[in-house]
Amino acid sequence: MDQPYIRIRGLTHHFGENEVLRELDLDIFRGETMAILGGSGGGKSVLLKQLAGLLRPTQGSIQVDGQEIANLDERALGPVRRKMGILFQGGALFDSLTVAENVAFPLRESGDAKEPEIDSRVIEALQMVRLSGQEDKLPSELSGGMRKRVALARAVVGRPTCVLYDEPQAGLDPINSDAIDHLIKDLQRTLGITSVVVTHEIRSVFHIADRVAFLANGKIEWLGTPQALADTDNHDLRRFVAGDSGEAWK
Ligand SMILES: Nc1ncnc2c1ncn2[C@@H]1O[C@H](COP(=O)(O)OP(=O)(O)O)[C@@H](O)[C@H]1O
Ligand SMILES: [Mg+2]
Repeated sequence: MDQPYIRIRGLTHHFGENEVLRELDLDIFRGETMAILGGSGGGKSVLLKQLAGLLRPTQGSIQVDGQEIANLDERALGPVRRKMGILFQGGALFDSLTVAENVAFPLRESGDAKEPEIDSRVIEALQMVRLSGQEDKLPSELSGGMRKRVALARAVVGRPTCVLYDEPQAGLDPINSDAIDHLIKDLQRTLGITSVVVTHEIRSVFHIADRVAFLANGKIEWLGTPQALADTDNHDLRRFVAGDSGEAWK
């Protein structure tokens, strides 16, 4: 088998007394779509921020494309962040910036693209998410599904090799969720992007994931294909998939 694109070993993270991740191991291969499931507060967003180089782990190793990133200083993290696009939980667009300005933001921030190049990249990214012609709108003038697609355009405008999606379907109706799933799959296919998708949408897992990892108790408690997920006899995972709190309905 190939070298994994992302190789995580012994990843541990504490916020004071709160041990969020404990000795987590996970490999993610180039071009694959890995879905990450797990309960709220389990550390999924923390994990994505660490992969994006936005949060340094307490302990452990994260290799991206063969390079150790867990102990890099701020300056050395710049190029790592450019390889990784991130769609933040909630989308987090800037309300006072137009669609085009929001999408251009990471390019202006990194300072390595010139204005005409920025314009053409923004147009290309908006085309990819089927939002051509919406450049001058403000986020408040768009529907929830469209805002999510703007955030997706912003995540891919720097042509990352890997995109990290934090609950991309949250707050969307089933039709818009399905549209986001198609975009994630299209990006993965046409650009060969490696994707890590944190999600609560089981339907989406079956549409887009090559493999699924279940994060619980600070580590990956279960790992397998969507088919294996459907057939699993892991009690906690079955309950999670079925949406079963363990309380009886009367
Ligand atoms: N910046 C932070 N400072 C302190 N605690 C944090 C911070 N970010 C997350 N946490 C805590 O880490 C745990 C995991 O959070 P998170 O990764 O957001 O969970 P989720 O799996 O829902 O995405 C939670 O207990 C949360 O309160
Ligand atoms: Mg989260």
